[in-house]
Amino acid sequence: MDIFRTKSVEQSIRDTEAPEHQLRKRLTATDLTVFGIGVIVGTGIFVLTGQVAKEVAGPAVAISFVVAAVVCGLAALCYAEFASTIPVAGSAYTFSFATLGEFPAWVIGWDLLLELALAAAVVSVGWSGYFASLLASIGLPLPGSIAGDDPVVNVPAILIVLLLTAILIAGIKLSSRVNLILVTTKITVVLLVIVAGLFFVKAANYTPFIPEAVPTPRVEGLKAPLIQVLFGVTPVAFGVIGVFSAAAIVFFAFIGFDIVATAAEETIEPQRDVPRGILGSLAICTFLYVAVSLVVVGMQRYTQLSTSAPLSDAFTAVGYAWLATIISVGAIAGLTTVVLVLLLGQTRVLFAMCRDGLLPRALAKVHPRYGTPARLTIVIGLVTMALAGFVSFGELAELVNIGTLFAFVVVSVGVIVLRRTRPELPRAFRAPLVPVLPIVSVLACLYLMVNLPVETWLRFVIWMIVGVVVYCAFGYWHSRMMASR
Ligand code: ALA
Repeated sequence: MDIFRTKSVEQSIRDTEAPEHQLRKRLTATDLTVFGIGVIVGTGIFVLTGQVAKEVAGPAVAISFVVAAVVCGLAALCYAEFASTIPVAGSAYTFSFATLGEFPAWVIGWDLLLELALAAAVVSVGWSGYFASLLASIGLPLPGSIAGDDPVVNVPAILIVLLLTAILIAGIKLSSRVNLILVTTKITVVLLVIVAGLFFVKAANYTPFIPEAVPTPRVEGLKAPLIQVLFGVTPVAFGVIGVFSAAAIVFFAFIGFDIVATAAEETIEPQRDVPRGILGSLAICTFLYVAVSLVVVGMQRYTQLSTSAPLSDAFTAVGYAWLATIISVGAIAGLTTVVLVLLLGQTRVLFAMCRDGLLPRALAKVHPRYGTPARLTIVIGLVTMALAGFVSFGELAELVNIGTLFAFVVVSVGVIVLRRTRPELPRAFRAPLVPVLPIVSVLACLYLMVNLPVETWLRFVIWMIVGVVVYCAFGYWHSRMMASR
């Protein structure tokens, strides 16, 4: 069995030109940046800021955001180089196929399916929470059986996925227009928090900036972080170590910039614009996160921050409930775009896998009128609806983190491999300091990964084993690489 057969870069690009599998090229650097911001700014800033400041980092949560941004920035440079060399749908999956071979590509594709489907479902459940609380605030509470903390069926979450699936089928340009409107609303609200919040900042709230470290009760068993099990390290909250551990959590807030790479094939000038889209959206989000977190911990003492809706609750706390309502609306808009782009990325990765025959090829047909992979979008929409409507998540969100970090590791390694195996390929964007930078990127990602619980690692390994079985039973035999031998 030749499971390390690679698909040449030229072949990958040629495949995109077959008429029945051709996606429409419509996007520009601005569209991509907006897509990026659309998927990045979400639960991370609207929810995690408060929780992390209160429990792990104190006012220094802003530094945690910077640390997470640096880890993502290293990986982003690697993604940018790849996307400018292989502008084909499928992101890390396609990159791995060209460098590491079919089986590693399958593994990463399978991993991305986990990251994206789960993330879309998790965020739509969050969306439903904000939506229900907004309705309740205007006197229209939804029954507990269909929304809220522990519903039997999460109806708003299902409906939002249904609506977004329909928009995605209708076309990439419409999706990007809807996205633009919602992203504008979201960013306006984030800027509102920054500007209006500045008036309520009290210098006293910044001291101590890094609260003194306190040991957290040792978590045992499956809930313990892997680093604790492996090295016997006791986790602490606050202090410099706390600020770094917090980075592993707020990492979630940056997830999504990699998804810009999945839209490479629909970009008019991908070599130039995909790197701009990836790095631009990451830079803008980093600025917004640092600013928002500094303002919020300045408005309220970190010990008093709310963990479910810290931004709006900070305004309620200073007596501006009407601003809090506006912020909730912004959060709903914000979370909508996150789900939209996650679903988009998901269809594009799966599209690439089906086109290669690793999954049924019939699914990768592009709709003749809309120019989108309509069948696949419907399949993904249904799976996400089932997950969002009936499964209650919580720590499953950590699976999203581990899946994403794993993809970052593979892409970083891939950059080194492709520089060795195909040095002559035109690279419109080159990551600096190769191989040092990708190696540091791998180490940084691994560091964040070992900070995740053992339970998350186990779930991740099980999902991957299922993936290997599917590959051996179907993908290997139906792969187009098989026919081309
Ligand atoms: N970065 C996205 C969020 O924070 C996943 O919701």
